[in-house]
Amino acid sequence: MVKEVKILPSLLAADFGNLSKSVAAVENSGIAGLHCDIMDGHFVPNITFGPMIVEAVRRLTDCPLYVHLMIERPEDYLEQFVEAGAASLTVHVEACVHLHRVIQRIKALGVKSGVALNPATPICSVQHVLEDIDLVLIMTVNPGFGGQSFIETMLPKIEQLRCQVESAGLEIDIAVDGGIDTSTAPRVVSAGANVLIAGTALFNNDVPASKACADLKQAAMSKV
Ligand code: DX5
Ligand code: ZN
Repeated sequence: MVKEVKILPSLLAADFGNLSKSVAAVENSGIAGLHCDIMDGHFVPNITFGPMIVEAVRRLTDCPLYVHLMIERPEDYLEQFVEAGAASLTVHVEACVHLHRVIQRIKALGVKSGVALNPATPICSVQHVLEDIDLVLIMTVNPGFGGQSFIETMLPKIEQLRCQVESAGLEIDIAVDGGIDTSTAPRVVSAGANVLIAGTALFNNDVPASKACADLKQAAMSKV
């Protein structure tokens, strides 16, 4: 089913007092890019950072920046994040009244487009845009904070999406975000996820972040 697994370290768990050190620790560890969590204190009960910090990270690395917009009215900020250097923008289906229109605008800006689903949101909510997007992000925790526990009932949801994507002959990435570590990684890959986003397991660990990336990839690839 899944042939290759991509790892995206989430900067949410990085050291914001020394971002260059955190980025340098993972950028040459076989990662596919960096995941930037944008939170506005409305869509989720936490506030992180905006385009200015994304632009600062852009200057630190050539890694593609995958921006996860956990904000209300994401359509008002697309240009700003693209100008800041995002290679991919993921919006939440729950935050978009006109999801199809938002996706078309992301595509017109020339970056990859993704749609994220909260744990409570069913897969059918993205059915009408599956042919237009590059990535579906299945939240495996309720968005807002790092370090939460993986929600087990997301496994059949991943399986269902993988099944739909394959039967439609689409090449969409299926990403998972929240509670991903060396024990949950093989399980989500078996279910059909091929992009693993992880923060706590990579940065807040006893082992160096580069080794944690390699360990996570190895655990994930055991099911490929
Ligand atoms: C949560 C964020 C995640 C977060 C995951 O709302 O979207 O990207 O960084 O953190 P961990 O890996 O600690 O669960
Ligand atoms: Zn995220």
